[in-house]
Amino acid sequence: MTVIDLTRAPLEDQFRRAITYLRVSVTDKCNLRCVYCMPEGGLTWLPKADILSLEEIAEIVRAAASVGVRSVRLTGGEPLVRRDLASLVRMIARIPGIEDIALSTNGLLLDAQLDELVDAGLRRVNVSLDTLNEQRFFEIARRPGLDRVIRSIYAAFAAGLAPIKINCVVMRGRNDDELGAFADLTRECPVFVRFIEVMPVHENLDLQREGYISSDEILERLRAHGELRPVSGPGGNGPARYFAYDGAAGAVGVISPLSHDYCERCNRVRLSADGKLRLCLFGDQHVDLRTPLRAGSTIEQLAAILRGSMLIKPERHHLDLGEASSRMRAFSEIGG
Ligand code: 5AD
Ligand code: SF4
Repeated sequence: MTVIDLTRAPLEDQFRRAITYLRVSVTDKCNLRCVYCMPEGGLTWLPKADILSLEEIAEIVRAAASVGVRSVRLTGGEPLVRRDLASLVRMIARIPGIEDIALSTNGLLLDAQLDELVDAGLRRVNVSLDTLNEQRFFEIARRPGLDRVIRSIYAAFAAGLAPIKINCVVMRGRNDDELGAFADLTRECPVFVRFIEVMPVHENLDLQREGYISSDEILERLRAHGELRPVSGPGGNGPARYFAYDGAAGAVGVISPLSHDYCERCNRVRLSADGKLRLCLFGDQHVDLRTPLRAGSTIEQLAAILRGSMLIKPERHHLDLGEASSRMRAFSEIGG
């Protein structure tokens, strides 16, 4: 008789979506203050005691891997402000079942930490970059640093971290006149520049309303710079749709959380820095993993909680244009 070990069956939600991708927020803090993400003064940061240790994060990833998670992305806030992130990368790289570890960063600290991250097992990075102009960078991120971001992107190339994805949040009147310049980057360099629709979070509602440009408009404006043909992306089943110019080394992509959501193909859940498993980018549905973890739960018990959480993963988000997220911490969520 064959015994099927249900404790090891892969995670699947009520809508038959296999969950194979875990985004891990390692800190809520950031060294930038991008206008679409955080207020100038920052947010009320999570109390230190509530933040999972690197070992605790690794334990949850172990549980997730035991039920089918194969791909992990480290996010924040800005993940590289967390001390010793490389040791977390090393722990995760050793977990059986994990096939892919990636990082989403604003690039400020990447150059300095790149060697140890690669040595620890990091293979892919996404870098946020909304402008190629230093003054603009300061206007959007409210801190200087464009030169460091560019240096980090070159360093990532040199370290062989291809394919490199650049995430650019497009805002009317702030950086939309740079679409052509970003598009030109993809002709010369093997980069994937992904244009992201600005989403309503925190207190950015006015900016979002005034600055929102749909991905359809972005694509139409990119077509003014040359014919675009649909191409497949750099692996993975992420939310972006990709297109390339004739003879281009890279590609442009659009990510449209609002105008064309990808809920139907959702394969992801997210672990917050304080140990909540969040089932949807925009919803409040979550399960606390920190309490059972700190109470001594085993990997099997954590895996059972993960499995149970599938019951509250919603079918889709109901975020429409102009509506604020009910959830207050949505950083670094989309670009993945
Ligand atoms: N709209 C769109 N993308 C956002 N990000 C953060 N806030 C928003 C928002 N309001 C994403 C972007 C950015 C990354 C750090 O998080 O991809 O590059
Ligand atoms: Fe920091 Fe990213 Fe938010 Fe900018 S968008 S403030 S880089 S977390």
